[in-house]
Amino acid sequence: MSSHGREHHHAHDMTNSHILVQDFEYHRPVTLDEAVALRSQYGDRAKLLAGGTFLLVQMKMEQMSPACLIDIQGLVGLSGIRFLDEGLEVGGTTTIWELRNAGVVQRNYEALAEACAAFGSTQIQLTGTIGGNVCNGSPASDTVPALMALGAELALVGPDGERTVPIERFLIGPGETAIEDGELLKAIQLPEPEPGTGSAFIKVSRVRADLAKASAAVRIVRDGDCIVSCRLAFGSVGPTVIRACMAEEMLVGKAFSSEAALAAGRVASEEVTPIDDVRSSAWYRREVVKALTHDVLQAAWERAGERKGRGAGGARSGGAEEQESTALGALHLGAQEKQTVTLTVNGVEHHLFVRSNELLINVLRERLDLTGTKYGCGIGECGACTVQLDGVPTLSCLTLAVAADGREVITVEGLQRPDGRLDPLQESFIENAAFQCGYCTPGMLMMTKGLLTENPAPDEDEIRDYLKGNRCRCTGFAAIVRAVQSCVEG
Ligand SMILES: Cc1cc2nc3c(=O)[nH]c(=O)nc-3n(C[C@H](O)[C@H](O)[C@H](O)COP(=O)(O)OP(=O)(O)OC[C@H]3O[C@@H](n4cnc5c(N)ncnc54)[C@H](O)[C@@H]3O)c2cc1C
Ligand code: FES
Ligand code: FES
Repeated sequence: MSSHGREHHHAHDMTNSHILVQDFEYHRPVTLDEAVALRSQYGDRAKLLAGGTFLLVQMKMEQMSPACLIDIQGLVGLSGIRFLDEGLEVGGTTTIWELRNAGVVQRNYEALAEACAAFGSTQIQLTGTIGGNVCNGSPASDTVPALMALGAELALVGPDGERTVPIERFLIGPGETAIEDGELLKAIQLPEPEPGTGSAFIKVSRVRADLAKASAAVRIVRDGDCIVSCRLAFGSVGPTVIRACMAEEMLVGKAFSSEAALAAGRVASEEVTPIDDVRSSAWYRREVVKALTHDVLQAAWERAGERKGRGAGGARSGGAEEQESTALGALHLGAQEKQTVTLTVNGVEHHLFVRSNELLINVLRERLDLTGTKYGCGIGECGACTVQLDGVPTLSCLTLAVAADGREVITVEGLQRPDGRLDPLQESFIENAAFQCGYCTPGMLMMTKGLLTENPAPDEDEIRDYLKGNRCRCTGFAAIVRAVQSCVEG
């Protein structure tokens, strides 16, 4: 390696995930028109900030350095699920968590609900959006194989108005999409399932809270024993999410059988173009595609049988979950400027003079001396920095302080009761010896509080799933799960 190469490598190793070193301008528009106008004005110098779970990690790793961030998280009219005349429309800033839990998605677009449930961690699901998942252009994005199998179309809005693109035509290569400067993804449209439709998604990963080694999604339409149509898509086994058209063709018009599904898997494994990387080898990925194809086809086939004769009406029962975000008001902050933001932390209002690149974790720990919130990885992978932002468990290492303006934060210090006693959950952690070094404990507590608010009586699987993005390197999860259970029982 040349000395130049070594220096470069060294610089990358020295990336500091504790802070965001880059300077950038921050804009928080209120309306879609304002966002589009800003996007046109800055062109490729600006990036849209939705949940930030991808973008802020890239910026911390110094793999991206936009001159401007346009925060679209609170944009009015961009989030939520709505019925169309012939299907469903999902707003671009709808979170993975909302989709995972929406009854209409679970019932009629099973592949999408399963893809969202398989997503990294609860915190990432709660903050990450479907628009961010599609627009980051990653071949490992979990919702994308599901959307491709379901025949999704993307509604893009730009300075010249709106256009609709099928998701296949949107994906160009790793990190590359057909979005043009000035455009943003407004919504994703899903066609209504016809009678006899079933879909499924399966992911294989190193641990539950990780990106896919390989994933597969399918939508089947069945008539009796016959496959009327089939769309098969795979993630993490090519430069983009890809369809296996030859495997699809050999199934359509044929009777379904386990042997036919296995044969389709063998063909699909020749169609994909995987590589060796840190998560898996090309050889393993090809092998696992065979099994994934079989299993995903089998699951979708059985579901298609259950939806026999149920057509358009089925999609509408239960109502869509429309959710409107509340506008926080427009905000602009220059790259080197400071601005006063208001944060209510544990019930106390603070007015803080911050720069655009200051992170919530650093404001809490270093300005407000609330050191209960811990810094672990800085890139969303350990959960130690979890706080509640407007009641939602949120990673403070991936939250800009300026984006938290006007919002309410609760840290572990805020769990204490007014008379100074600990919260029953904290007491339960002590009684059950649910910590050793205690470094992960504030994050575990803040997450568990979120879980118990949503679900006051979770079972063991639900507890483990909710806490899957919180790493503990010394206690082990048995004692933590026991502490949560005994708090629930108490
Ligand atoms: C610990 C960890 C685990 C993860 N696990 C998974 C996983 O299991 N599966 C998975 O698929 N992903 C995973 N991710 C990646 C990431 O969380 C998801 O891709 C998420 O959906 C991104 O959404 P976001 O709202 O946070 O996007 P952001 O980070 O805000 O944006 C991502 C990109 O999309 C652009 N963008 C966002 N919204 C729009 C829009 N409406 N129109 C146009 N462009 C837009 C942004 O400019 C940016 O370039 C993980 C990330 C982390 C840190
Ligand atoms: S420090 Fe935030 S997730 Fe690890
Ligand atoms: S108690 Fe030490 S990391 Fe969890």
